[in-house]
Amino acid sequence: MSIVVTGATGQLGRLVVEELLERGIPAGSIVAAGRNAARLGELAERGVQTRTIDFSEPATLREAFDGAKKVLLVSGSEPGQRLDQHQNVIDAAKEAGVELLAYTSVANAGTTTMALAADHQATEAALRESGVPFTLLRNGWYLENYTAQLETFIAHGAVFGSAGEGRVSAATRADFARAAAEVLAGEDHAGKVYELGGDDAFTLGELAGAVGAAAGQPVVYTDLSEKDYSAALVAAGLPEPYAAILADSDLGIARGDLLVTSGDLATLIGRPTESMHDAVRAAFSALAGKAAQN
Ligand SMILES: NC(=O)c1ccc[n+]([C@@H]2O[C@H](COP(=O)([O-])OP(=O)(O)OC[C@H]3O[C@@H](n4cnc5c(N)ncnc54)[C@H](OP(=O)(O)O)[C@@H]3O)[C@@H](O)[C@H]2O)c1
Repeated sequence: MSIVVTGATGQLGRLVVEELLERGIPAGSIVAAGRNAARLGELAERGVQTRTIDFSEPATLREAFDGAKKVLLVSGSEPGQRLDQHQNVIDAAKEAGVELLAYTSVANAGTTTMALAADHQATEAALRESGVPFTLLRNGWYLENYTAQLETFIAHGAVFGSAGEGRVSAATRADFARAAAEVLAGEDHAGKVYELGGDDAFTLGELAGAVGAAAGQPVVYTDLSEKDYSAALVAAGLPEPYAAILADSDLGIARGDLLVTSGDLATLIGRPTESMHDAVRAAFSALAGKAAQN
């Protein structure tokens, strides 16, 4: 009986596989599933079973889930297709008779009105409808959404957004992955809904302050209207629909949609979550190290 991790070719799913291995789950009991076969190669060399899947091709899912005890559905990344794709995963998991299907949803899925939450809310409803035992991992924002932009923040001396004074309980992918691995490797998680976020919520103003402190130069937060922020993201090269989703998500932060106070993430991972300040310092050190090498 195996544990299947979808999205294992992506950033979060890959970390979940590593966490399972670190916990001593035998590599041969883990099935790393993703679309990009090349990225599965290194895991296969370490004895992890691998399956090439496409959420849009049910036959690939049926094959990957054959003999599975638990499946992690890492939400897909193709707007407009996710709900049908997630339904395919739910159907295949049901057919395989899995004991547990864990799903990476969005924080506060019960109440949030953020545009990007709609697919997650519909997937949660489909899970409830399916009769498959499930766990909801309602992941908050990744800290990497911010630390990956460090160079841009420093170059502009500014963080731009439309989140106002709203607080976001962001946490690292590594912490979210550890929580998912705990659910997959542990017992008694069926039927649970975990609201997952970092222990210390912060405003984008505080983020700018932390970036400035790490870089040793002033970095300010500039709050824009949703329209102006979206336009600024398009001007920076983002496709319009993606820019609109990000600006809408910042309004969600302003409303408190990405604020999580449950403490579920720290409880599941068994330690405090990595703080925004530590993540910014680590990202800055990595950048400085890279610059020194060049
Ligand atoms: N909480 C947040 O802040 C946040 C931010 C961004 C996204 N997300 C959500 O969280 C998910 C995981 O995040 P991440 O950082 O790991 O994203 P990521 O690195 O882009 O990984 C996405 C994974 O989904 C797989 N995938 C996409 N479409 C698929 C399909 N049709 N069939 C099979 N697999 C498919 C990809 O497979 P291939 O690479 O092999 O194609 C990849 O393994 C994202 O997909 C998205 O739904 C959350």
